Amino acid sequence: MTGDLDNAGLETKIARLAEMPPLADFADQLDEIFFTSSATQNFAGEAARSTFRERWLGRYLDHDREWFYVAVRGDRLAGYLAGAIEDPARTARFSDIDYFKVIAEETAKYPAHFHVNVAEGARSGGIGSRLIATFIADLRRAGVGGVHLVTGHNSRNIPFYLRNGFKLRKVIKGVAGDSVMLARSVLQG
Ligand SMILES: CC(C)(COP(=O)(O)OP(=O)(O)OC[C@H]1O[C@@H](n2cnc3c(N)ncnc32)[C@H](O)[C@@H]1OP(=O)(O)O)[C@@H](O)C(=O)NCCC(=O)NCCS
Repeated sequence: MTGDLDNAGLETKIARLAEMPPLADFADQLDEIFFTSSATQNFAGEAARSTFRERWLGRYLDHDREWFYVAVRGDRLAGYLAGAIEDPARTARFSDIDYFKVIAEETAKYPAHFHVNVAEGARSGGIGSRLIATFIADLRRAGVGGVHLVTGHNSRNIPFYLRNGFKLRKVIKGVAGDSVMLARSVLQG
């Protein structure tokens, strides 16, 4: 675990979930951050809500816990990063996500990917950048060469990713709006 003071003067620690106390202690807070941060806010019913959670959060907790990071401020969860290292365009458990097929040429070069969310009251204090830096340092140690993410093409978070060393690699056309793939090498700084 590494600690740092954020803009509220509180110490926030970044930890690998695998090294934390049992997930049950954090499960509700994790879900709260996930659902309040998501662009999708309305669901047709409980089944749709559950499928959505499984797609963007649950599968990472089940299959990629080694690459799941949390930011802990006091006794509260301030954010998380859910990562995975296998090329998702060539990994069966991600075959339900269509956009990976569209960016398969790029994911071959930048195979790791992640979803990062920070609690509303804790944003713009550097926590998201620290979560990404911790993930990238671990990728480098593991010899994984590149990492990518996908976000909305108009999203406010794009400057955040650019500041963290990512570059635009692909525009993904979508029915409900376009997305962008951003990626970076992890081998240098
Ligand atoms: C994007 C996010 C993970 C960054 O974490 P953070 O701890 O706020 O990041 P940092 O303090 O290192 O960087 C701050 C930058 O994050 C971005 N950001 C801040 N609040 C944001 C929000 N509500 N939505 C999108 N991006 C936001 C901005 O680019 C911000 O820069 P600015 O303060 O100059 O405007 C976090 O803001 C967040 O969870 N936002 C909402 C959900 C989201 O967009 N998640 C990523 C999905 S791909």
